[in-house]
Amino acid sequence: MTLLDGKKTAADIKAEIALEVSNLIEKGHKKPHLAAIIVGNDGASITYVNAKVKACERVGFESTLIRLPEETTEADLLNEIAILNIDKDIDGFIVQLPLPKHIDEQKILMAVDPDKDVDGFHPMNVGKMALNLPTFISATPFGILELLERYNVQTSGKHVVVLGRSHIVGSPMSILLSQKRKVGDATVTICHSRTKNLKEITLQADIIVAAIGIPEFLKADMIKENVTVIDVGITRLADSSKQNGFRLVGDVAFEEVSEKCDFITPVPGGVGPMTIAMLLKNTLLASKRRS
Ligand code: GUN
Repeated sequence: MTLLDGKKTAADIKAEIALEVSNLIEKGHKKPHLAAIIVGNDGASITYVNAKVKACERVGFESTLIRLPEETTEADLLNEIAILNIDKDIDGFIVQLPLPKHIDEQKILMAVDPDKDVDGFHPMNVGKMALNLPTFISATPFGILELLERYNVQTSGKHVVVLGRSHIVGSPMSILLSQKRKVGDATVTICHSRTKNLKEITLQADIIVAAIGIPEFLKADMIKENVTVIDVGITRLADSSKQNGFRLVGDVAFEEVSEKCDFITPVPGGVGPMTIAMLLKNTLLASKRRS
């Protein structure tokens, strides 16, 4: 069994980005600049956004964090987006999800200038992704493609089973892996809460991408031998023995599943760090496109 080490791979990618940034700056290019908007006080979201901002500093980007209170109106948030859209110094920005319930997420994502949409969530960019045209590929599926590529995991002709149909992970992942591309050409089945005989399907999988948000959902009796398992889930479970009061658990029962795997991602240290590295990659791309 080989661990797909997202932490190490993300560090490699960040080192590559840092080198490219310093070369660009030597040639007179300005520092890439990422902005992030976060609305409200969700602990996990704040942790993720802070990690994104910190990662920017480490690779030599500028970063701007805009923290807005929970009661921010949709109109106020749209106004902040309009400001970032026209700010010539900002190369790309993200609006951290989820948003408070009184804000229409789709309306917000549509307001982001597609050329600055480094999350790849604007319908225009989702459409380009679905058509296999050059665009910003969302950080999580992009990170999974990169991890599979760097570990030489073969996808062509394989049966990939994606658990979950979210707009952020399951849906784009299933589209990308079915496409004609370097990491692609797979036969993809997408499973969700209405799927019947799920275990029959997962037992046929060569590669499983678990992105349903149910802790330790995928068990050893649901998979065959020699599979590759990508665990996108990350749930904080209360654990009084831990200093911070919780432990992080994926969608995969790691101990038992890993025994049957050729390749598997750990949680934490698998997909999570890759998403940040790919967001930086998209920001660098946005910055180069604009210069
Ligand atoms: N919430 C969970 N994942 C993401 C992501 O990739 N981008 C943003 N903006 N919010 C998220």
